[in-house]
Amino acid sequence: MSTVNYELVGDIGVIRLNNPPVNALSHGLREGIWGAIKNAQGDASKALILLCEGRTFIAGADITEFGKPPQAPALSEVISEIENSRKPVVAAIHGTALGGGFEVALACHYRCALSSAKVGLPEVKLGLLPGAGGTQRAPRLAGVAAALELITKGTPIPAAKAESMKLIDRVISDDLLKGALAFANELIERNAPTCRVRDITIDPASIPEGLFSDFRQKLEKRTHGQLAPQHIVTCVEAAVQLPFEEGLAKELDLFIECLLSSQSAALRHIFFAERSAKKIYGLPKDTPTREINSVAIIGAGTMGGGIAMNFANAGIPVKLVEINQNALDRGLAIIDKNYNISLKKGKLTEDQKTHCLSLIEGTTHYADLTKVDLVIEAVFENMALKQEIFAKLDKTCKPGAILATNTSYQDIDQIAAATSRPEDVIGLHFFSPANVMKLLEVVRGSKSADDVIATAMMLAKTIKKTPVLAGNGYGFIGNRMLVPYAREAQLCLIEGATPEQIDTVMQSWGMAMGPMAMGDLAGLDIGYKVRQNLADSEKGDPKTYCIADALVSMGRLGQKSGAGYYHYDPETRARSNDPQVLTVIETHAEEQGVERREISDTEILNRLTFALINEGAKILEDGIAQRPSDIDVVYVYGYGFPPHRGGPMHYADSIGLAKVYDAICAFRDQHGEHYWTPAPLLTQLAQEGKTFANWAHNQR
Ligand code: 3HC
Ligand code: NAI
Repeated sequence: MSTVNYELVGDIGVIRLNNPPVNALSHGLREGIWGAIKNAQGDASKALILLCEGRTFIAGADITEFGKPPQAPALSEVISEIENSRKPVVAAIHGTALGGGFEVALACHYRCALSSAKVGLPEVKLGLLPGAGGTQRAPRLAGVAAALELITKGTPIPAAKAESMKLIDRVISDDLLKGALAFANELIERNAPTCRVRDITIDPASIPEGLFSDFRQKLEKRTHGQLAPQHIVTCVEAAVQLPFEEGLAKELDLFIECLLSSQSAALRHIFFAERSAKKIYGLPKDTPTREINSVAIIGAGTMGGGIAMNFANAGIPVKLVEINQNALDRGLAIIDKNYNISLKKGKLTEDQKTHCLSLIEGTTHYADLTKVDLVIEAVFENMALKQEIFAKLDKTCKPGAILATNTSYQDIDQIAAATSRPEDVIGLHFFSPANVMKLLEVVRGSKSADDVIATAMMLAKTIKKTPVLAGNGYGFIGNRMLVPYAREAQLCLIEGATPEQIDTVMQSWGMAMGPMAMGDLAGLDIGYKVRQNLADSEKGDPKTYCIADALVSMGRLGQKSGAGYYHYDPETRARSNDPQVLTVIETHAEEQGVERREISDTEILNRLTFALINEGAKILEDGIAQRPSDIDVVYVYGYGFPPHRGGPMHYADSIGLAKVYDAICAFRDQHGEHYWTPAPLLTQLAQEGKTFANWAHNQR
């Protein structure tokens, strides 16, 4: 079947688009639509329908064409051709109409959609703005305030909501073609005009004073120096103040500026990185998977409860196992509380909450696990305990059940060795809060079976997580990189910085949270316990963690004890600087013979981010990550790394590996080899003038 087909059904010309997998507006499709609309002007049709084959309506511009020489017709020409059609054109939407795809629909004279469909302008997530009239047409239909929300958030909305916002004219419940034909016939019958959205004007006097400036301010707090969100506001403002063609010209100028920006390059990198992370070298796409219709979680603590919610949200029944009834009741109460928070935020209905809760069944008996398809262990981080549990699971669970651990650091093979079926054992490393964070590290043990790995990757999609495959090594990908990152934060602290300076530098650069605030949130006792369990030979220079250890010994465990690196208001949890912490820092600096000095913001930023990059390079050499972009996905989705900087490895490429390498050498000369040794892979790529993006796993 060719990309665009045309068929006359009665009085109606049906234009069918077929450009798998997602009907992106590549050159061929643009040409096809343009030609079909043009040809249809001269035939017997009285109205036209634009309909897509496959799993979705048009998902947007073809992102792979960005940066390549443009080929006519441009999307804007296709859109003009549709809008200027003398016969009414109806978009018939199923799946998702996104970005340029929704802009095509907005250029049609009418829009109908299946009730399951979603529409949206998600360009902002790629560091872009709608560049084919979306910022001019959406506010003309939906109003300025609604359009600002829709375009700056970029989240697709369901058809019914779009209908209530006047972005869709009719919602169709079952057969899309039948419904669209009926709709088009009605239009013909009532001699309906070709309603061009461009002809609607917005009265500037109807816009409340200060709407744009207020919106800009709020937006900046959420988007920290990102270009596209602010440009979107400028475009919507232009839709109010300028004639349509001038508004379009403004939109195009700003679209091009965004397209050429490093922010968009980073966000597009993450888009494709997330998708390639799902592909596993040596594991064919058609590797069989095991059916997962029921799950058990062992441990209803911080992680277990959140993990259980993921499965319940996906409609999969969960048995939640605890050590005793008290612990179980506490865990179930937290789950209940979390669902109530979602309910209050309008993220789910009362019925949905009841349904999810009905799918989570607590138990204190392992005997209840004989039939489950998957078990995820989330008990204390203790090898002996985990081995004991896996031995029990081995005896209890049916053959073929997948036995997974949520361990953060432990050796998967050692855990698997406690069973008679190591091929069924795998790491499923969720991130806290597990019901919110998108990342899932799938940790492959040396004996994990291919179908177990394939099932884990598939399962991630079911529970709406982004999976990344990691090898079995201390801290896998993310937590291993956190070690030198945290080390540098500690060293900056003792050498002269304050917690506030470090957090402000990292947060204003875009990290969701600075390292000190993150430590306070997670609990300073966690790292402390890990350090206590290290052998003396592994403990390293006492200067590194002496401040963190001192705070723990003072009972300052972080937010949960009301104080850590900061003081926390018991009512509001608002944080404030605490002079006592500065005294602790200064005392320990003196004890360790460290002369505190002024540390620049740039030094803090470089030491922390280059520590991540250097460890990332070692992780690639060791085969713990399949590809540099997988590391980027881990950091963006699991550790709050700013997506518009593309993850640590992309960030390294964007500033140049030679520059990173030179800086690391300078750190080594200043602080010593036990802290800084440039990774051989980084050294090699920097010397060859290459990037991580050029590097492929078979070069290992
Ligand atoms: N261009 C090129 N390729 C695209 C694409 C696009 N717009 N959207 C998806 N693809 C590719 C993916 O890379 C993937 O390729 P792969 O199989 O080789 O890895 C394949 O299509 C399938 O994509 P998903 O795995 O994401 O499939 P899902 O079914 O899970 O999701 C989707 C489908 C919701 C449409 C999702 O792909 C998506 O969100 N796509 C991007 C939508 C978007 O951002 N559109 C705006 C583009 S920018 C634009 O339109 C500018 C305009 O204003 C001028
Ligand atoms: P937690 O201490 O909050 O919860 C552990 C729970 O396991 C407790 O409720 C305890 O009663 C229960 N438990 C202990 N022994 C049990 C047994 N034999 N049978 C059934 N239940 C038992 O711990 P948390 O933080 O949830 O961590 C669990 C695991 O997840 C650890 O391996 C940890 O490393 C890992 N992890 C933790 C993250 C975090 O941020 N807290 C993030 C990612 C992984």
